[in-house]
Amino acid sequence: MCGIVGYIGDKEALPVLIDGLKHLEYRGYDSAGVAILGEDLKIVKTRGRIKDLEAKLKNSNLKGKIGIGHTRWATHGAPNDENAHPHFSESKNIVIVHNGIIENYLELKKMLINEGHTFRSETDTEVIAYLIESFYDGDLLLAVKKAVNMLEGSFALGVMSKDEKDRFIAVRKDSPLVVGLGKGENFIASDIPALLSYTRNIIILENGDIAEIRKDKVNLFDLSLNPVKRDVQKITWSVDDAKKGGFKHYMLKEIFEEPQVIREAMRGRVKDGKIEVPELNFAKKFLNEINKIYFVACGTAYHAGVVGKYLAENFLRITAEAEVASEFRYRDPVIDKKTLVFVISQSGETADTLAALRLAKSKGAKTIGIVNVVGSSAAREVDSVVYINAGPEIAVASTKAYVAQVEVIALSILYLAKLSDKLTEKEERLFASAFEGLPEKAEKILKQSDSVAEFAATTKTIEETFYIGRNLDYALSLEGALKLKEISYVHAEGYPAGELKHGPLALVTPKSLVIAIDTYSPLREKTLSNIKEVKARGGKVLAVASEGYQKIEEVADKVFYVPKVADELSPVISVIPLQLLAYYVAESRGLDIDKPRNLAKSVTVE
Ligand code: F6R
Repeated sequence: MCGIVGYIGDKEALPVLIDGLKHLEYRGYDSAGVAILGEDLKIVKTRGRIKDLEAKLKNSNLKGKIGIGHTRWATHGAPNDENAHPHFSESKNIVIVHNGIIENYLELKKMLINEGHTFRSETDTEVIAYLIESFYDGDLLLAVKKAVNMLEGSFALGVMSKDEKDRFIAVRKDSPLVVGLGKGENFIASDIPALLSYTRNIIILENGDIAEIRKDKVNLFDLSLNPVKRDVQKITWSVDDAKKGGFKHYMLKEIFEEPQVIREAMRGRVKDGKIEVPELNFAKKFLNEINKIYFVACGTAYHAGVVGKYLAENFLRITAEAEVASEFRYRDPVIDKKTLVFVISQSGETADTLAALRLAKSKGAKTIGIVNVVGSSAAREVDSVVYINAGPEIAVASTKAYVAQVEVIALSILYLAKLSDKLTEKEERLFASAFEGLPEKAEKILKQSDSVAEFAATTKTIEETFYIGRNLDYALSLEGALKLKEISYVHAEGYPAGELKHGPLALVTPKSLVIAIDTYSPLREKTLSNIKEVKARGGKVLAVASEGYQKIEEVADKVFYVPKVADELSPVISVIPLQLLAYYVAESRGLDIDKPRNLAKSVTVE
């Protein structure tokens, strides 16, 4: 996720671009830049936030009435000045900003290098600029059309040419982009809030749209340059509402982003019935020597690691443990070069997780990072990093990052299983297709959010909750309980369902709510028996079960169904009702959901 903005009109472009970028900083903030076409085509860009860009711009005297800008959330290449956008083409006649991921950029880069071109950055974006230049023959629209037809992946683009002062070009495919219509001026932006100070007349571009933006006209085309028409929408939201996409809190917005997050996390990794995680191209000999796998992390990321433990043992048949980093780092774990350690971290900066990683490395383990923030400490220090590409997570309670972590862990383990001949081609094909079905299933679950909210409103007298499940559902019960306690302040614990009668059952009273997760089909009858034990003690039971398992309605007070999915992938989507429940319980109690008391987003101290 990155933010892009563009302007053409009678005003100086720079203040409009900077103002727009400030509204888009929530989409990424590791580097920022602008390109303005005045007497000349100039770029100013820097690592850091918009305020760092403003400081750099003070001495730049950047003047012109057409320009594009970008605030970055790195995906390819570390966050530094060189990799910041905008990017010039080789001759510096064309300039581009990009949000998204180009899956075939390495092939295209190789092709251009073979033709004698030299690149300046590590980004996939620069390849697009060079490609457009290679097609440029005095018509930017045509050159962009030819270039984008060669791109695979997701992109929203803003493109300017030094020789065309009266227009710039924008393209949208699988990354958001809107056009703002003003009087004698027009705009583009990744999101509506960036434009609301200037216009409320917005066109939401559709996939495959190419827009030619002139100061008094906007022309829209499809990828073959046939003209297309899109409705103009009149936006009535306030700027603040718009930043949250119309949602009341960032947490809810991030939950609703999950179908797209699931798509992005598998982009380039699931294709044509194959699962590929090239970051993990380990030799088969090395994989056969591994005799122990650890998943180390904190909080929600640790819960994603618990899923990893079950999956690793299942598919790789190697002993696996999940452990919280603050314990792992101080207990002198038995590790050697036959140990594989996954560290999982959204921020990549959590102090305990970094200390655990350094310990594992010092003892010779091979380390893999499952990380969101590109260029973060964890990403730099692990032997191999697999990014989850979830975009910035703003709410303190982690939701979309968990979904992407679990998905990327599953992809990684299946890929390692394939490399070590523990996954047949047929299984690979089945899982690839199961992954592809996940976004739609997540969307289906989100459609039940009103009914989750209704249920949450009935829980005002509940004083404590127990989340129970078996196997992967147990891993989910830990995460469900954490979500609820951290934002609603209702006491919540996750237990293996079979453990209930060994102690916790004594706490169950009519004032307790038990949330039973029962999606893991090999053990669902066992969990059903545990639900009956709770009911016999007067506890209220909410169940999360797979569609078709109607029998559970006979014992649970309320059931939320999740679509059927391969058991191993269930946590990716079955967590969604648990996240929604936590959100709506906190909301019904009027709490500050995005900033829960005593908590911070990134715990960089011990
Ligand atoms: C809970 C939550 C925390 C983080 C934990 C690790 O909602 O957000 O438990 O998961 O602090 O943070 P990262 O993943 O940044 O290492």
